[in-house]
Amino acid sequence: MGALTGFGDVGTAYAAHSGSARGRLRHDLVERRFLSELPSRPVRVLDAGCGNGEMTLRLAAAGHRVTGVDPSARMLAAAAERLAVRPELADRVRLIRAGLESLPFDGERFDGVCCHGVLMYLDGPDEAVGRLAGLVAPGGLLSVLAKNRRAIGVREAFSGDYETARRLIESGAQTSIGNLGRATRADDPETLDRLAAEHGLTPLPWQGIRIFHDHLDDTWTPRPAVYESALELEWAASSRSPHRDMGHLVHTLARRPVRSRP
Ligand SMILES: C[S@@+](CC[C@H](N)C(=O)[O-])C[C@H]1O[C@@H](n2cnc3c(N)ncnc32)[C@H](O)[C@@H]1O
Repeated sequence: MGALTGFGDVGTAYAAHSGSARGRLRHDLVERRFLSELPSRPVRVLDAGCGNGEMTLRLAAAGHRVTGVDPSARMLAAAAERLAVRPELADRVRLIRAGLESLPFDGERFDGVCCHGVLMYLDGPDEAVGRLAGLVAPGGLLSVLAKNRRAIGVREAFSGDYETARRLIESGAQTSIGNLGRATRADDPETLDRLAAEHGLTPLPWQGIRIFHDHLDDTWTPRPAVYESALELEWAASSRSPHRDMGHLVHTLARRPVRSRP
C-alpha cells in the first residue's frame, strides 16, 4: 500500500476546502447515508484517515463511540483542537496516530468502519479495503468514499477546461488533479464492491457524491435556502443512474453478515 507522506503540508488547504459549501455538501451527503445504515443506538466506529476529524466529530455528535486514526501529526492535532472545543464529545472520541498499514487494533472490531477521501492518495485499493474489511464486526458496516473513475474529466469539462477534459476522457485516465492540487487516483464502484465481497462483506447500493456542484470552486457561498435545495437535489440524484455515475466521488458501503467472522 503506497503510504502518503507530508500530508500535513496540505492540512490548511484541506481544512479550507472541507469547510466550504462544496466540501460541506460531501460531508452532509456521506454522513446522512452512513448514519442511515448504522444502528441508531451508540456503536463503535473507526474513522480511518480521519484528517481534521470532520466525520469523527459528526459521528460522535450522533452518539457513537468513535476512534479516529491518521498518520499525519498535523491532521491529528487539528482534529484534537476541534475536539477540545466540543468537550461534550470528549468521552466518545479517541484519536490515534497510525496509517492503514499499521492500525493498532489487535482483535478489536468495529460496528462501523469508514475510510473517506483516503484511497485516492494510495497506489491502489486492494490492500486497504482488505485491512478495513477485516476490522468490521459481524453485522457491521464498511463505508468507503473514493474518487470516481467514471467521472474523470467531468469536473474539467464543466469548468471549461476542454483540452484537459478531452485528454483525460480519451486516455481513460485513472488520475487527475484533485482539490488540493495533487494528482489523485480514482476507483470504480464495481472494484470496491468486489473487493469488499472478497472479504466476506455484502455490498449495498453505492452513491455518486457531488454531481452538479463539483466544478464550482470553494468560493461558492450559497444562501442557506439555496444550499438546502442543492443538498436535496444532490441526495436525490446520488442513488440514481445515470446521474450518480457523474459524481466526483463514489460512496460504497458493504455489510458483514451477522453470522460470519472477520
Ligand atoms: C483528504 S483527507 C480526508 C480526511 C477525512 N477522512 C475526511 O473525509 O475529511 C486525507 C487523509 O488521509 C490521510 N492518509 C494519507 N495516507 C494515509 C494512510 N496510508 N493511512 C491512513 N490515512 C492516510 C491523510 O493524512 C489525510 O488526513
